[in-house]
Amino acid sequence: MDPKAFHKISYGVFIVSAEGSDHKAGCVINTLTQVTSSPMKLSIALNKNNDTLEVIKEAGTFSAVVLKEDVDLGLIKIFGFFSSRDKNKFESISYKFDDNNNPYPAGGIVAQFSCRLCDSLDVGSHVICIGEVTDANLVSEDPPLTYADYHSKKGGATPKNSPSYQEGTTGYQCTVCGYIEETDDLPDDFICPVCGKDASYFRKL
Ligand SMILES: Cc1cc2nc3c(=O)[nH]c(=O)nc-3n(C[C@H](O)[C@H](O)[C@H](O)COP(=O)(O)O)c2cc1C
Repeated sequence: MDPKAFHKISYGVFIVSAEGSDHKAGCVINTLTQVTSSPMKLSIALNKNNDTLEVIKEAGTFSAVVLKEDVDLGLIKIFGFFSSRDKNKFESISYKFDDNNNPYPAGGIVAQFSCRLCDSLDVGSHVICIGEVTDANLVSEDPPLTYADYHSKKGGATPKNSPSYQEGTTGYQCTVCGYIEETDDLPDDFICPVCGKDASYFRKL
């Protein structure tokens, strides 16, 4: 099996979020897909270790936003590399509430969906959640960020909880925060997008 074949599947980059009884949760995903149009339903795949899955199950609803091409990488860093169990990801960003009272990032997005969790399927490491769309808003006509551009233009990495993460990933890993830069050569002036350490803190995988 050639793992590079999986790199030819195109995805967008999204943030899904919800508010539980005691905290807000949200995480970056690349696995949002529209599955039906009547009624309008979306599917998302969430790792069982992710706090966002627990909070969405508790809330019974969730918000999903489509990130824009020139989104600040800092937003992906906060929502994609930390857990809502340890950090209030919303405290440092501007956010709004959808019609289900779920918070969602206000900046760096091109569209927002409010969803009611109507089904879920355990597929092993992840749970596929089906959301019926109760509201949809076009926020900007700017182009959305693709997963391919996130990697090629923004130098992004994929953490282990993403279904697209592949065991045996090669590259350089930050010895401080664990961030993996998937590249053959790490430039000397490279700065970790997660914890800000320089290239000397990275080790080759
Ligand atoms: C580009 C990118 C794509 C990701 N895709 C997914 C995904 O589809 N499903 C998932 O469960 N996690 C995905 N992740 C990982 C989660 O965002 C990450 O594990 C996050 O820290 C979970 O936070 P939480 O514990 O607050 O839910 C992705 C991360 C990045 C940066």
